[in-house]
Amino acid sequence: MTDTTETAPKNATPPKVETGPRRSLSGIKSTGHPHLGNYLGMIRPAIQLQDTHEAYYFVADLHALTTERDPVAMRQQTYEITATFLALGLDVERAAFFRQSDVPEVAELSWYLSCIVAMGELERAHAWKARKDAGDEGAAVHGLFGYPVLMAADILLYDAHVVPVGKDQVQHVEFTRDWANRFNHHFGETFRVPVAGVREDVMTIPGIDGRKMSKSYDNGIDVFMPTKKLKQRVMQIVTDSTALEDPKDPDTSNVVALYKYFATPDELADMKAKMRAGGYGHGHAKLALFEALERSLGPQRAEFDRLMAAPDHIESVLAKGAEKARITAQGVLGRAREKLGFLRRPAGR
Ligand code: TRP
Repeated sequence: MTDTTETAPKNATPPKVETGPRRSLSGIKSTGHPHLGNYLGMIRPAIQLQDTHEAYYFVADLHALTTERDPVAMRQQTYEITATFLALGLDVERAAFFRQSDVPEVAELSWYLSCIVAMGELERAHAWKARKDAGDEGAAVHGLFGYPVLMAADILLYDAHVVPVGKDQVQHVEFTRDWANRFNHHFGETFRVPVAGVREDVMTIPGIDGRKMSKSYDNGIDVFMPTKKLKQRVMQIVTDSTALEDPKDPDTSNVVALYKYFATPDELADMKAKMRAGGYGHGHAKLALFEALERSLGPQRAEFDRLMAAPDHIESVLAKGAEKARITAQGVLGRAREKLGFLRRPAGR
């Protein structure tokens, strides 16, 4: 893009009375394969919002850089996430889907925010505290410490109204709100203050070992695992040692905790009743879960595989998304620059 003069919004502040479409924005880090926790907590709700909102979603590769240093894996994982969203029904005619690093304006805004964020706030961030508890925090990279600042820049750069995220990201959205208010208070009305969109009906999704499904625990079930691997993975779900003939408590079953998101209400009630009655083994339940997953995600997996074989197509989707995202980003960044006493649009932009 060469000249954004015509497309950048003319008004210096967001309109007080809003009439346009509401905008939803979210990102997902490109580390490893997307898993069912990502799917239920963020990907699926985000895609649903495209019907009522103007959707801006991106692959958070700048955030992934805090841990991922293999460029080949970086590119591959970016493609995987993009193909996952497309296969699951994101409509790129309506939504902007892009790569975070394709909109360098975010790094600039991140710096501005860095200058109003207190160290003590970042010290309180859950992810940082966990890293600290693991010891040797002196070796942790600055990007990890500053992770919430970049994330706030992601959100504020696009005038988002709502940020669909899993529960683990709510603290980050709260920080974003605080910093947006702080900036607005000090420099004048600049950023829209967004809210987190959290699905209250989606609990913390357990991984195959019963702990929260997480890349760092290596306990995930990938959204689009090949059928055979998916079955193996489901069979590895940790269950208690109750004998086949004995009754089982569905409320403590890791299998039920996943099954409920993919089964029909009747199927779920049926599984629970069978468990309580006894004579129904964990293996039976796992098989039912596998079948429900296959039914829910199998058809989309074929589309995912097709997309993964067409990286040029993926690149063109990302390029189109970035073009749209940058126009919005430059408009908002211009507002911030002006409020800070910098040139609204620096030379060359
Ligand atoms: N931190 C999020 C995660 O780990 C990814 C992310 C980056 C994000 N920037 C964002 C999510 C902005 C929502 C909004 O999954």
